[in-house]
Amino acid sequence: MAKKNQTLGEFIIENQAEFQYSSGELSRLINSIRLAAKVVNHEVNKAGLVDIIGAFGETNIQGEDQQKLDVYANEKFIQTLTNRNIVCGIASEENDDFIAINSLDEKNQNKYIVLIDPLDGSSNIDVNVSVGTIFSIYRRITPVGTPVTIDDFLQKGNEQVAAGYVVYGTSTMLVYSTGHGVNGFTLNPAIGTFYLSHPNMEFSETGNIYSINEGNYAHFPKGVKNYIKYCQQEEDDRPYTSRYIGSLVSDFHRNLIKGGIYIYPQTSKAPTGKLRLLYECNPMAYLAEQANGLASDGFQRIMDIKPTELHQRVPIFCGSRKMVEKAKEFMKNS
Ligand code: AHG
Ligand code: MN
Ligand code: MN
Ligand code: MN
Repeated sequence: MAKKNQTLGEFIIENQAEFQYSSGELSRLINSIRLAAKVVNHEVNKAGLVDIIGAFGETNIQGEDQQKLDVYANEKFIQTLTNRNIVCGIASEENDDFIAINSLDEKNQNKYIVLIDPLDGSSNIDVNVSVGTIFSIYRRITPVGTPVTIDDFLQKGNEQVAAGYVVYGTSTMLVYSTGHGVNGFTLNPAIGTFYLSHPNMEFSETGNIYSINEGNYAHFPKGVKNYIKYCQQEEDDRPYTSRYIGSLVSDFHRNLIKGGIYIYPQTSKAPTGKLRLLYECNPMAYLAEQANGLASDGFQRIMDIKPTELHQRVPIFCGSRKMVEKAKEFMKNS
């Protein structure tokens, strides 16, 4: 069981037996993510010191300008997972296509694939606001020893075996779940060790924070507009507080600790929303449900959506159970 002050390394070893398939492979994979997170953390922390920030001059598949740290974080996570021969495939928000990984003997016996948003909230880098990394892990469905295919990546979120995020904030934290609740580890930068600081994290049943980019109000569907009005009404425990950082990881993390709802809905300009199902919504939905919360696209459970493409976007409503249920009611009735 989770003991406060345990190191992440100790925690991984102690809880290995709980994994559904405890060959040690998933433990090694989480260990590799921990390692890459420390390397990226080091770079993110000094972003203001060296001339590393600013647009890299290239545009990724999402049509966004890539920031240098996006590219750096992408490379570090991919390199770490590839060099340590720990997975059979990787897909990243920053890459057009998935990467099939061959081991040294060309016959990769690894079972797991990783999907990653290497740097989330990258528009916040230039202004010294928290950014993050999001990861999602599945078992491949094609036979071990053959190259992975797109089908391995287009699994429902429900099939995830682990997911988590790193938040590079006032402290750097790694928060993850392997299907037995959610635990948060804080990095002691002096010695480079993550310690269990937030055991068994849970969303409160309801909260008083709503997080949404209200600048897009004019483009929101009626249900979202009505829910926002409801949040602002003076009644019972309302009005709620509005908090929006613009980094999904940081907004989710705050709401997980304090109780709240995060919404990135469909808009008239972006009819399927902005956030990506595979790199952002599914891992956050997995964590939300593991933490006693909910994640919906406004109508159906995020993790029940069958993905049709790697960079698919979906609307998301996630966080405290009762708040998500209430928002869904507004979506249904308008
Ligand atoms: P990324 O930096 O990985 O491209 O993700 C940005 C996402 C997410 O982090 C954030 O919640 C959302 O974009 C903010 O979008 P708006 O600026 O449209 O509110
Ligand atoms: Mn991006
Ligand atoms: Mn992102
Ligand atoms: Mn990103």
